[in-house]
Amino acid sequence: MNVLQRTFNSVSRNSSELPLEQTLCWQALERHAKEMAHERTNNFFKIDPERFNRHSLNVGDLLFDYSKNKVTERTMDFLLDLSRQANVEDQRKALFAGEIVNASEGRAALHPALRNPHESGISCGGPEVTEKIKDLQKHLQRFSEDIRSGVLTGATGQRFSDVVNIGIGGSNLGPEMVTEALTPYHQPGLRVHFVSNADGRELSRTLMQCNPERTLFIVSSKTLKTQETLLNTALARRWLTEILGEDAFFDHFVAVTANTENAHHMGFKPKHTFEYWDWIGGRFSLWSAVGLPVILAVGYDRFRELLDGAHAMDRHFLEAPLEKNMPVLMAMLGIWNINFQKICAHAVIPYDFHLNRLPAFLQQLEMESNGKSVTTDGVAVGYDTSPIIFGAAGTDAQHSFFQQLHQGPRPVSSDLIFPVEEQEDNDGLRDVQISHALAQAGALMNGSSIDTTAAPSRFRDMPGNRPTNTLVVRRMDPHTLGLVIALYEHKVFVQGIVWRINSFDQWGVEAGKKLAMKILPELSGDIPHISNQHDSSTRGLIDYCRSLKQAAP
Ligand code: F6P
Repeated sequence: MNVLQRTFNSVSRNSSELPLEQTLCWQALERHAKEMAHERTNNFFKIDPERFNRHSLNVGDLLFDYSKNKVTERTMDFLLDLSRQANVEDQRKALFAGEIVNASEGRAALHPALRNPHESGISCGGPEVTEKIKDLQKHLQRFSEDIRSGVLTGATGQRFSDVVNIGIGGSNLGPEMVTEALTPYHQPGLRVHFVSNADGRELSRTLMQCNPERTLFIVSSKTLKTQETLLNTALARRWLTEILGEDAFFDHFVAVTANTENAHHMGFKPKHTFEYWDWIGGRFSLWSAVGLPVILAVGYDRFRELLDGAHAMDRHFLEAPLEKNMPVLMAMLGIWNINFQKICAHAVIPYDFHLNRLPAFLQQLEMESNGKSVTTDGVAVGYDTSPIIFGAAGTDAQHSFFQQLHQGPRPVSSDLIFPVEEQEDNDGLRDVQISHALAQAGALMNGSSIDTTAAPSRFRDMPGNRPTNTLVVRRMDPHTLGLVIALYEHKVFVQGIVWRINSFDQWGVEAGKKLAMKILPELSGDIPHISNQHDSSTRGLIDYCRSLKQAAP
């Protein structure tokens, strides 16, 4: 059966079922949350010396410690009942089988197929999908090796020294985050840059560091219709061809897109066009040709290790029982904190400088996926969905927003992530980072009670009981990074299932994009009258901008 002809049939998508909040499992959790209202997490540790062992688990080198959440064995049982009610076991099979899990766009979400080794024994999307992926991966390997070895050069025969990825959202955040996270593996002499914003200064700041003869541009866009990417591409093309001539475009520009027709129309050579497909969502696409900047930076073999790490998490997610399943546990703890502890913001704090783009990547992954208010049946949800995701690298974060985390009236949950070893010399500072991560997690849970030496003062009061997950890896190598990213992808998927929303569409971002296209000509004065479709604030602001522009010397 063709992958796109399969239908997504599941009990949780059955419109005749009860609203989620009226189900027995949900209500049991609400009652349980009331019973737990006055509990303190640090007391659970006093009662149970084995709590850490009972509430942590490993997948390969990745340890997930969730013991600092306000949960008991009973809480976990209730949460797992809720996941069973949502049919998580069948839904994960549907994802891997290539069923239409993205119903509003009629698409599968086959990112796990991209990392599925051909001999894995897991069927992911069927032979048609496997063949397409094999061809793409061969193409990526050949091309990247030729660039890295200098077989493929720029128009004047010079070896490439700089790669500029032009793309935004999923065509930027994933590859940028991974490229930076894998800095210790970069090939010397080949620098990879990322430009996303429709603000010419971002591009020109990057191009100031580049020599046109030695610069390769990757235009990465699933649709190849995104305004920011097309504008930056046009500017970069002009910068290059003004110096090297029109034909230089063919050697210096490659496209990564699902819209190959547009790519050919724009002049990209077919062998410089890397295709992916509508069954790969933008924010899940770094495993596809969208990962080309990563491949150029670290080499194909390292990229394969990244895919293998993600595949190891896929296999675990698909096969482990729910009570020992890391993405399921992480997802259900999130649901406990969001829906039953009323914690609506979640911080991601990597204690690893090279992971500083992880919060931004997870912002899109979680908020674009699960920031939804309508179920797949079109019914308004009666509960919270995606929390506000934010974060920054520790210890910077500690010196900016941690004050609110410790003493603000609105509790926030957090993930603290760190490697124990470093691949490069860090002057022995790794342990400093780890000490801060552990200290913060302890203080967030214990509150004031942790500091017995300080004089009592209301201003020092810290409520504690703020839940944290701690993720520890030996080293942030490509394999481990793959494990971590796939963990979050599946967490998001499981939460979407439980909340009965479609994690794979993003209709909300479309409206603003369309409106901006209408406003642009009005701002530049190309059209004489301001559209009367705007509210008076928008109209007033457009008028004000026009008047300032007209008054400018
Ligand atoms: O922000 C909306 C969005 O559609 C994202 O989902 C996507 O990653 C991004 O725009 C970029 O889209 P494209 O890859 O088609 O340029």
